[in-house]
Amino acid sequence: MTIEVTAELRDRIRSAFPALAGDTVFLENAGGSQVPAAVADRVRDYMVSSYVQLGAGYELSQRATDLVDEAHAFVKLLFNGSDGDAILGPSTSALLQMLSNSYSKVLSPGDEVVVAEIGHEANIGPWKGLADSGIEIRWWEMDPSDFSSPLGALEGVLSDRTALVAFPHVSNLLGEILDVPAITGLAHRAGARVVVDGVAFAPHRVMDVAAWGVDYYAYSTYKVYGPHMAAMWASRDALAELQGPNHFFIPDDELPYKFELGGVSHEGCAGILGLRDYLELLAGVGEPGALDRSGVEHAFDVMTSCELPLQARLVEYLRSRPDVRIIGPAHGGPSRVGTVSFVHDTKSSREITEVVDGSGIAVRHGHMYAYHLCEALGMDPEDGVVRVSLVHYNTPDEIERLIGVFDRALG
Ligand SMILES: Cc1ncc(COP(=O)(O)O)c(C=O)c1O
Repeated sequence: MTIEVTAELRDRIRSAFPALAGDTVFLENAGGSQVPAAVADRVRDYMVSSYVQLGAGYELSQRATDLVDEAHAFVKLLFNGSDGDAILGPSTSALLQMLSNSYSKVLSPGDEVVVAEIGHEANIGPWKGLADSGIEIRWWEMDPSDFSSPLGALEGVLSDRTALVAFPHVSNLLGEILDVPAITGLAHRAGARVVVDGVAFAPHRVMDVAAWGVDYYAYSTYKVYGPHMAAMWASRDALAELQGPNHFFIPDDELPYKFELGGVSHEGCAGILGLRDYLELLAGVGEPGALDRSGVEHAFDVMTSCELPLQARLVEYLRSRPDVRIIGPAHGGPSRVGTVSFVHDTKSSREITEVVDGSGIAVRHGHMYAYHLCEALGMDPEDGVVRVSLVHYNTPDEIERLIGVFDRALG
């Protein structure tokens, strides 16, 4: 659903984020987003009012336990994943490493794992590590002519030994949204499970693991306007194949705790619930805590509607420059997110970002941990690309200001 984006709506959004009142223009949001005041307030309130251990009989401990449970339930609602569990952890990298360690105990030598060349290292490295246990690693290669990851290329590396297919929903460098249901369908027909890295998707569009039919889906809460943590949804079927890493006396069916070694950040869970307050603001839900799935969808429709004109303008500008090559789809339409990378004919990515950084606008250059992708494109990964990553709280004025600075930086 497209929402009309008025100046009043943009003001309402920006005033929810205290950091946006400062001088920095935040266009490095794919690295990490800013948080609404509600997130920071909830972290503080929790720490000064109920910072105790979970599971004891006294009242404060009960309150803390309920809060951590509530955060898990809210994240499950975000995933639309009532048929599985939301496992929280310190980072997506840590959650996927934990998943890979769990699979290392059930896979056999000769089993195969497919990894995507366009992936972030967080969803490649842990699987490559399984080669030490005799697991074969197969690469799903991209087509460098258009940066796509063709389904035919995936089919070519699937076999009846494929146990897992690990891929990103969106590359955090390229920005195009992959067809998760189609990829999942292919993998499932080969008898494999899918592990989807949703980190670069989740800040921009609503997640829906039920509609996509995936087995595992992970994202970083600190890139979705929340505290520095991560979440991974896992289907009940998939988790039943594994034994979680938590202590031996914790029963296998105590989920998700069996997969949350040592527990999770309690104050982080409080912060995650601050995102619910913010989504309620976007969705116009009057009663605190009453956000339901349609409210989540509405809130993300608002975000998408705010972003699309910004990414269209940025891509239009970059396309107008003959000295620039967009690394990723050269369009600003809805099948991509506002994470836009490029290289220049003669200037290094470092030179360009130095000028932009000096003007108070935060962007980034480098390989963005998509190291294999940069190598496959024949780039020096250290210089990599210039990446601009916008989200819904950015404004048309900020994009115009960036374009003005690019005019200077690109020459
Ligand atoms: C696409 C993608 N996947 C995974 C990660 C790793 O996330 P985390 O920092 O939570 O480990 C990132 C971080 O930038 C990312 O952009």
